Amino acid sequence: MHDIIEQLEKKRAAARLGGGQRRIDAQHAKGKLSARERIELLLDEGTFEEWDMFVEHRCADFGMADNKIPGDGVVTGYGMINGRLVFVFSQDFTVFGGALSESHAEKICKVMDQAMRVGAPVIGLNDSGGARIQEGVASLGGYAEVFQRNVMASGVIPQISMIMGPCAGGAVYSPAMTDFIFMVKDSSYMFVTGPEVVKTVTHEEVTAEELGGALAHTGKSGVADLAFENDVEAIAMLRRFFNYLPLNNKEKPPVRMSGDAAERLDMSLDTLVPDNPNKPYDIKELIYKVVDDGDFFELQREHARNIVIGFARLDGQSVGIVANNPMVMAGCLDIKSSIKAARFVRFCDAFNIPVVTFVDVPGFMPGTAQEYGGIIKHGAKLLYAYAECTVPKVTVITRKAYGGAYDVMSSKHLRGDVNFAWPNAEIAVMGAKGAVEIIFREDKGDPAKLAAKEAEYKARFANPFVAGARGFIDDVIQPHETRKRICRSLAMLKDKKLENPWRKHGNIPL
Ligand code: HXC
Repeated sequence: MHDIIEQLEKKRAAARLGGGQRRIDAQHAKGKLSARERIELLLDEGTFEEWDMFVEHRCADFGMADNKIPGDGVVTGYGMINGRLVFVFSQDFTVFGGALSESHAEKICKVMDQAMRVGAPVIGLNDSGGARIQEGVASLGGYAEVFQRNVMASGVIPQISMIMGPCAGGAVYSPAMTDFIFMVKDSSYMFVTGPEVVKTVTHEEVTAEELGGALAHTGKSGVADLAFENDVEAIAMLRRFFNYLPLNNKEKPPVRMSGDAAERLDMSLDTLVPDNPNKPYDIKELIYKVVDDGDFFELQREHARNIVIGFARLDGQSVGIVANNPMVMAGCLDIKSSIKAARFVRFCDAFNIPVVTFVDVPGFMPGTAQEYGGIIKHGAKLLYAYAECTVPKVTVITRKAYGGAYDVMSSKHLRGDVNFAWPNAEIAVMGAKGAVEIIFREDKGDPAKLAAKEAEYKARFANPFVAGARGFIDDVIQPHETRKRICRSLAMLKDKKLENPWRKHGNIPL
C-alpha cells in the first residue's frame, strides 16, 4: 500500500510540473503565471477539486508516443469563488504550448457537461497555441465538441473566458461564444489569422499585438469586454465580477447587502444636467451616485463609449445598467453601441438580472457610414433585445429621448415596467430646430418667424408631460430621489412574472 501511495504522489508531482520547471520559468519570465497558479488565485483557498490529472493524449505520430505529459496541457475541475460553485479549465502553455489535443478537448468537455448538469458557471483560462499540430483532424474534432457545448450552455449557465496568452485560428470561436471575454494586456492576443497570413493575403504589416492584442479588442473590435494589467489583477477582477452573476438561468443573482440605504437621496443630481441642452455631462456620475456604494463594474469601457454598460447593485440586488453617454457623440445610438448594449441586455434577460436604463439620446447616428454599415439591422438588435426582455425593466429619462431611439431605449411600449423622467426631459419625435425646419419649410427666409415657431415647438414638446399625459411615463421625478425611486420599483418587481410565447427561437436581426 505504501508503495502505491508513493507512486500516486509521484504521478501527481509529475502532473503538477506540467512541461517542466524550465518551461514554467519561461512562463514566469514572460510575466505570466502557470495554469495551476492561476487556478489557485481564482478559487477560494483549498477548494479546488482537480479532475483528469492523469489523462494523456493518444497520438502516436511525429514521435508523440514517447512524449506524454499527464494532464495533457489543461488543468480542469471545480471549486468555489466566495463560496459559490464554479467549474474551471486552465490551459497549460508549458505542455505543448497549451495546444488542444483530442484528450485535452475531452477534459474541457467533461467539466462543461458536469457544469450543465449541476447548473454552475464555467470559467476558461485560455493560453494555447491552438490545435495540436501533431494530431490534425482529431484536434479539430475536439474543438468542435467544445463549440457545440458552448452553444448548448449559452443562456443556461454563465460562461466566461479569460485570455491569458495566445488564442488564434479557430480556437477563438470558443471564447467568442461565451458570455464575456477578458484579456491580459501585452501577454494575450486573439485573431482568426495571424500577422504572417495577413501580410500574404492583404499585404498589411501588423504586429500580433496590433492585430489582436487586448487594446485592439477592448477598443476597436469590441470582441473583449475588459483588459487587465497582468494575471494577478485579471483574476482578482474576475472573482469580483463573478459575484454579480447567478449560477444558472433558474437562479436569481446573489444579493449582497451593503450599508447604503435604498432611500438615500443625492441632492447634487439636481444640478447634473446643464441648462443648455446641447452641453454634455457625464452619465457615469449619475450611475456612481445612484448604485450601492458607488460600485459600478463597467464592461466594454473603451468600445462604443456612446453607450455605457455594466453591473452594479441596488439595495443589494444585482442589476445590469445601460446608459446613453452624452459625453461621446452626444449619446447617439450607432451600430457599435446598439450591438454592445443588445448583447448585454440579452445576457441580463437570460440570467434574471433586472435592467436599469438611463436615457439621454438625441437619436440614431445619421450618415452613409452608418446606413451602409447596416444601422437598420444593427439598431434593430437593441430594439429586439429590449422588446423580448422579460426581467424587471426600470427606465429613467434624464434629458433627451428623441425619435426611434426613444422607443428603443426600454420605453413603456416595449414592456418597460417603470418609466420615469426627470423634469427637464425632452420626449419628442425630434429636436425643436429640426422639427420647425421641416414643418415650416416655407418660412425658411424668415429667421425671426422660425425662431418663434421653434420656441413654440419647444414649449409644447420639449418636456416630459406630453408623454406623462398618455401614461408613457409613470412619474416625473426629482433627480435627487432617483436611487430611492428605482430601488422601490425593483422591490415591487421582485416577483415579476412575464413569459414570451413558445417558439423554437426568435429570429433576432443578426
Ligand atoms: C503543438 C505546439 C503548438 C501547437 C506551440 N507548440 N503551438 N505544439 N501544437 N499548435 C509548442 C512548441 O512546439 C513549443 O514546444 C511550445 O509549444 C512553446 O511554443 P513556442 O513557439 O516556443 O512559444 P512562443 O515563442 O511563445 O510562441 C507561441 C506561439 C507559437 C505563437 C503559439 O508556438 C505558434 O505559432 N504555434 C503554432 C500556432 C498554430 O499555428 N496553431 C495551429 C493554428 S490552427 P517546446 O517543446 O519547444 O517547448 C488552429 C485551428 C483550430 O488552431 C481550428 C478550430 C476549429
